[in-house]
Amino acid sequence: MARIAVLTGGGDCPGLNSVIRAVVRKGISEGYEVLGIKNGWKGLIENDTMPLDLNSVSGILPKGGTILGTSRTNPYKQQGDLQKLKDNYKNLGLHALIATGGEDTLGVAYKLTEDGIPNIVGVPKTIDNDLSCTDYTFGFDTALNVAMECIDRLHTTAESHHRIIVAEVMGRHAGWIAIESGIAGGADVILIPEIPIDIEEVCAIIKKRHARGKTFSIVVVAEGAQFKEGTFVTQEHKLDDFGHVRLGGIGENLAAEIEKRTGYETRVSVLGHIQRGGSPTAFDRVLGTRFGVKAVELVTNKKFGRMAALSGNKIIDVALEEAVKALKTVDPELYNIARVFFG
Ligand code: F6P
Repeated sequence: MARIAVLTGGGDCPGLNSVIRAVVRKGISEGYEVLGIKNGWKGLIENDTMPLDLNSVSGILPKGGTILGTSRTNPYKQQGDLQKLKDNYKNLGLHALIATGGEDTLGVAYKLTEDGIPNIVGVPKTIDNDLSCTDYTFGFDTALNVAMECIDRLHTTAESHHRIIVAEVMGRHAGWIAIESGIAGGADVILIPEIPIDIEEVCAIIKKRHARGKTFSIVVVAEGAQFKEGTFVTQEHKLDDFGHVRLGGIGENLAAEIEKRTGYETRVSVLGHIQRGGSPTAFDRVLGTRFGVKAVELVTNKKFGRMAALSGNKIIDVALEEAVKALKTVDPELYNIARVFFG
């Protein structure tokens, strides 16, 4: 019986368990033995695995997070890790590996296919929705709906207190969560990393809105947004294994500027990891399930070095190499739609 493995790497997100369940159900039905690698690439470096059978994935569909655990470990970072990973892959007798992750995890997956472990396929995950070659990554829809609900809640308190509230959302260097939750939640200004913040314009929009009788405003800002003259705001200077900074804090700076320039009382609410937790939406459960099934089909059809992807309403496969080449950022056309509702 050929043995295949599945891992989940990078930031967790709702829907990961749908992928694991689908890989196990489809894998077993195709005659594979399925192994779970714990904590992303770390588990393959440390030979930390768990067998996955029908019972181990029973009841996990509605659960957020990942039963396998995750990490931001990069096997190319520490000397010796890559060799350990390769040795473990060989000793485990793996026929193929299904790597579920975002740009970092799948970037490693692609490198490994070039570097001695060719039988890898990818599944695109991230709340940031910033992976190329797929219309959506799973996890995004849940995060978006959580952010939208928070914006709805912020509306009622902002209105009662006649305040401006700045809602800072995640998304790293892409503004997908901000733009879509802002449109869905009826934000009065939306600021994304793709377009530098013009603070004069932001304040002018708010003042104009207040001049027509509104006494509160909601501003949604992506954590990766930056002022025209500035750079992005970070929580700490330390970089992770993949060279990423920890973003966060732009909301605070923005709120201070808005209050100073408009005179309106302004508060900030940082949504943070709330966006990544909890039960996946139906959309993410279905997408994760479709991706998981597709990944096993790719293995069976020996289409290695490929990633399951969504195109329109079809699940297709694309080259991992293409998917990790560049970030997918917000289309200016979508921003223009959002702008119609500013102020
Ligand atoms: O990539 C997902 C994400 O939630 C980003 O939106 C955010 O910048 C980052 O992960 C936060 O990472 P951590 O969970 O390591 O703080």
